[in-house]
Amino acid sequence: MSEPTTIEAAPSDAGKDTIEAAAPVMDIRNLTKRFPIGGMFSSHEVHALQDVSFSLPRGEVVAVVGESGSGKSTAARLLARLMPPTSGEIVYNGRDVLKEESGRASLAYRGDVQMVFQDPFGSLNPVHPVRYHLERPLKIHKKASGRRQVRERVHDLLNIVGLQPVEDFAAKFPYQLSGGQRQRVAFARALAVEPKVMLADEPVSMLDVSIRIGVLNLIERLRADEGISFLYITHDIASARYIGDKTNVMYAGRMVEGAPSGELIDNPAHPYTKLLLSAVPNPHAGLRTQETQARGEIPSLVDPPPGCPFAARCPHVMEVCRQRMPDTTWVGTDHWVRCYLYGE
Ligand SMILES: Nc1ncnc2c1ncn2[C@@H]1O[C@H](COP(=O)(O)OP(=O)(O)OP(=O)(O)O)[C@@H](O)[C@H]1O
Ligand code: SF4
Ligand SMILES: [Mg+2]
Repeated sequence: MSEPTTIEAAPSDAGKDTIEAAAPVMDIRNLTKRFPIGGMFSSHEVHALQDVSFSLPRGEVVAVVGESGSGKSTAARLLARLMPPTSGEIVYNGRDVLKEESGRASLAYRGDVQMVFQDPFGSLNPVHPVRYHLERPLKIHKKASGRRQVRERVHDLLNIVGLQPVEDFAAKFPYQLSGGQRQRVAFARALAVEPKVMLADEPVSMLDVSIRIGVLNLIERLRADEGISFLYITHDIASARYIGDKTNVMYAGRMVEGAPSGELIDNPAHPYTKLLLSAVPNPHAGLRTQETQARGEIPSLVDPPPGCPFAARCPHVMEVCRQRMPDTTWVGTDHWVRCYLYGE
């Protein structure tokens, strides 16, 4: 993760492609989401996401790890534009997509940024075969036309996600597929639109342990072969390490630390990241499938007090921690933290 990047215009067309390729595909700036609760006459709000900034480098996998209720899905849903944020910016290829008025630009964004959900059982319509689920986005987004081209593209997609023989899988109904196979169909359906970014919200957490690694390897292959940038959301810091070029840690609606994944595991700075890691026996031992649930409860997000959200659980808490959220401090190359133990 890096600080929000300003994308400056290239002085001339020479080198423009290089500059664009180096710029992150997405920059998320101060994204905030509050849900009003308690009806019309209540002023209470759930602070689901607060002042979250990070970037998604082109062709990389950025993992977001955090326990239940930390705001991971809210972040993904905002980025997919399934709902509007309370405030903040989503900069995609240098443009703030929330300010774009045109329906065409918004449609293009919704095609470029696809989401894969946690539940492979609920995401496919049981009355239609796999072929239908893949043909639909191809036709809606005009990615193929004519029976033959659509059929060939469906087969291509099934090949890409490793569901062979493709003819057989195209004809199967969801109930004839395992959870892992369904999740592969969900990836194929998202790929049909030829996305540039995929937001994968806990794509393996409902799968059997034995098939999780196959789906994670599929993500890696799509990144390497198709150049797709991924936001990979998980409870599990070991899978973040396995698949993520970078890992960002969320706690109670805040992003509290981010770094290249190896650096984060080797040199965690935030007391919460350390707590998460202490719950995983050995994060270096490849993919561990247990969920990382640190001890203690996440605080209430309804009208939270000011200051660091981890203050109630932190062994190092100081008076200042309860007064104001710490700013970002850089503690290493591309490694930042929001904690008063660092910086001045
Ligand atoms: N529509 C909503 N109305 C009110 N509160 C909401 C709404 N959606 C989410 N929340 C709250 O926002 C907080 C963050 O929820 P979110 O689903 O983003 O967490 P998460 O990190 O994805 O959790 P999990 O790991 O369980 O999926 C939670 O307290 C949740 O109850
Ligand atoms: S800011 Fe304070 S309470 Fe929060 S993690 Fe750092 S030391 Fe602990
Ligand atoms: Mg979630």
